[in-house]
Amino acid sequence: MPELTAVVRDAAEVATATGDLRSDDPAGVVEGAAVAVVDGEIAAVGPTDEVTREHPPENATHAVDAHGRAVIPGYVDSHTHALFAGDRSDEFEAKLRGTSYGELLAAGGGIHRTVRATRGASDEQLLDNLLDQLDVMVAHGTTTVEVKSGYGLDVETELRMLEAIDRADDRHPVDVVPTFMGAHAVPRDYDGGGDPVDANDYVDRVVSEQLPAVGDQGIAEFCDVFCDEGAFTVEQSRRVLEAGMEHGLTPKVHAEELAHRGGTKLAAEVDAASADHLLHATDEDVQALIDADVTPVLLPGTAFGLGADYADGRAMVDAGAPVAVATDFNPNCHSQSMGFASALACVEMGLTPAEALVAGTRNGARALDRPDLGAVREGAPADLVVLDAPSHVHVPYSYGINRVATVLKEGRPVVGPEWVGEPGDSPRDEQGDESGGDADV
Ligand code: NIG
Ligand code: FE
Repeated sequence: MPELTAVVRDAAEVATATGDLRSDDPAGVVEGAAVAVVDGEIAAVGPTDEVTREHPPENATHAVDAHGRAVIPGYVDSHTHALFAGDRSDEFEAKLRGTSYGELLAAGGGIHRTVRATRGASDEQLLDNLLDQLDVMVAHGTTTVEVKSGYGLDVETELRMLEAIDRADDRHPVDVVPTFMGAHAVPRDYDGGGDPVDANDYVDRVVSEQLPAVGDQGIAEFCDVFCDEGAFTVEQSRRVLEAGMEHGLTPKVHAEELAHRGGTKLAAEVDAASADHLLHATDEDVQALIDADVTPVLLPGTAFGLGADYADGRAMVDAGAPVAVATDFNPNCHSQSMGFASALACVEMGLTPAEALVAGTRNGARALDRPDLGAVREGAPADLVVLDAPSHVHVPYSYGINRVATVLKEGRPVVGPEWVGEPGDSPRDEQGDESGGDADV
């Protein structure tokens, strides 16, 4: 017997995020609307009286009164480095005093410091750290998140990171998409002769040691590289991505973040799922992504934290690119909030609130090869966010404020008053509990 998992009724609007970015209504707004969920999937979206006639809220396991509130799809945060150990808040202060990201890295800080802390953390610590981050993310409306490895830079720790990502996905209601990023930095290790490891030798290790082990482990879906000044060249990046493809991993590229190095064209050439950052991308680069159907992922929080010029999101949308926006949450960009990323995308990159919504939901799903996610439409998993506000515009409008009131993952409340747990508890403790909660609260 199918279960009427949830009915969310009387929403001031449901912003379905189904519209084309260049249409008049990218947010796909339906006013005075309801959403019915059967067996975790969206069964109907439309005017409340029509939806509730067919799917009476009193028959639902979870009935949510969204009167005066907006409903949006759960955010799909398509680029994070959310699994790490240690604290780099002092580097935030150092950057404010004028030290650059590159200088911190060259001095053994930045990624290298996080690598040391991550290598020293136990499996349980790594898992706990990631679960804590997922709690924060879901409270801010994220229901699917990509998490990269890349703070191990050796076989053992890269595998441990991917294992922690996989376990967190099992334990937490947020879906976690695993990416291998052994080519995140050249580690400050020493070779047999006592010399610092050379970048080409490290790429050899990634290709001949890390990738075969990651392929055998069978967790990672994507392979990402940091193709940039002070990181890996286009040639080195191509070697890693091509080897990754031989192990079944879809390429992604950190491209043109610190300088223009050609990572965007490489992403187009290898048919990557996404090219990310793009602060220094040219019009020609953007056209190459459009022609190759690669999703550009913009990470405005990173430019904010670095005090750098933002990627030109407006021009990319106008050129017809299916732009995604994500947080890049990492120790150098310490915000898990898709609402904050959306506000920056609007104010600093010139997107409209409706475009920012699509970029943070449906196009984020596109960057992760999950076209079924990120929109409120029939047949999609019911990952829904009810805002404490009457429209999706209030997300970027309320910059610095979390407007998320309730989050449903596959129709089950995991955040908010309808959730079966106690306030302050982690929704992860309820994972796998199919008993549901009280109807109509
Ligand atoms: O996407 N650019 C490379 N990687 C991250 C930063 C990681 C770190 O500093 O720990 C990024 O910005
Ligand atoms: Fe990144």
